[in-house]
Amino acid sequence: MRKVENRRAAVVLLSCMVVMSCDRHRDMPGYDFMPDMVYSQAYDAYSENPVFRDSLTNQVPVYGTMPRNQVAFRYSVFPENRLLAGQTLLSRDPMIMKHVFEGKKLYTAFCSNCHGESGKGDGFLITSKKFPATVKVGDLTDERLVKASRGELFHVVTVGYGLMGSYGATLSEKDRWKIIEYVKVKLQGQELGARTLAGANPALSEPYEEFEARIASDFERTDGVGPVSGVTLGALNQAWVTEGETLFKLKCSSCHKPTKKYVGPAPRGILDRRNPTWIMNMILDPDKMVKEDPVAIELYKRYLAPMANQSLTEDEARKILEYFRTLE
Ligand code: HEC
Ligand code: HEC
Repeated sequence: MRKVENRRAAVVLLSCMVVMSCDRHRDMPGYDFMPDMVYSQAYDAYSENPVFRDSLTNQVPVYGTMPRNQVAFRYSVFPENRLLAGQTLLSRDPMIMKHVFEGKKLYTAFCSNCHGESGKGDGFLITSKKFPATVKVGDLTDERLVKASRGELFHVVTVGYGLMGSYGATLSEKDRWKIIEYVKVKLQGQELGARTLAGANPALSEPYEEFEARIASDFERTDGVGPVSGVTLGALNQAWVTEGETLFKLKCSSCHKPTKKYVGPAPRGILDRRNPTWIMNMILDPDKMVKEDPVAIELYKRYLAPMANQSLTEDEARKILEYFRTLE
């Protein structure tokens, strides 16, 4: 008998609690039973802070300092620096099988969503079409990357490459080397712990003027391959120049500076070295050009990064071409 009563009491009590907890009025927020757990004792990152003069909790690190265990990475994102990294960088400790296994875990967490378990670029973000179809993820088992030294891949992971972001701030130096070792050993079937540096790239030791002179003498000037044929240049159209410049700043300046070499060549004086139609095709279908046009192939060998298709219309490309005419 007592047992039943106890049970009844418990049911009534529980129902009361449930009903009470549902009855939450907007102006009566109810009770916090454990406020220490609800409210942070430390200052929140974005809360006001009486300690600092500027009242911000998030403070910029003191100029010239860096976190413990972080190693300065002096190689910029430029392709020459990637090669240089390949010629000069090795992991500090020799890599052993244990690192490969740890690298596998890290790879699965940080890389496989794009590059896929196999490294062939069939990760979920790609197969699920979460990225536009124009985003092509490098096949990590590709001959070119098998040949690339570990230092070069370390450069890619540290500062990013093309459309791929950088992991220099996310992963420790050691973890990055472990991932590279995993890629080399398990995905590419290379020898464990090999500590070889890359050789010099002959394409880069050739000065730019000599490079262009060689192209001019070895290859005929053509219209390239792609959607455009027979562009003729009339009198300069100033309105197009202005529009072209705006488009260039918006769509191209991440890789091109008007008069200085950057990730890609400077467009200054480009009409002295290429046909107008060739330029249009390079802008509108760089993927095809870099595969099929002999001059674009030479450019790719030198610049190492592929020119990106920015999905411009023919009209937009034509306006950029008009702007290029003014860069003498
Ligand atoms: C969000 C998607 C994404 C993730 C995550 C990602 N990558 Fe990439 N990765 C790319 C794309 C896209 C490219 C091709 C970039 C291009 O060609 O512009 C690429 C290219 C590469 C290349 C080839 C560079 C070359 O010369 O072709 C390597 C090596 C690479 N990634 C390694 C890694 C490693 C290691 C990780 C994990 C730390 C990683 N990636 C994580 C998207 C990703
Ligand atoms: C992701 C970087 C990137 C972006 C963005 C980019 N380019 Fe390029 N571009 C290159 C690279 C690298 C080359 C050298 C050829 C190669 O490696 O494929 C190049 C080559 C060229 C060339 C041939 C230059 C020569 O000397 O023959 C032209 C023309 C060109 N780009 C125009 C453009 C225009 C116009 C845009 C904007 C719509 C653009 N590019 C956006 C990287 C880029």
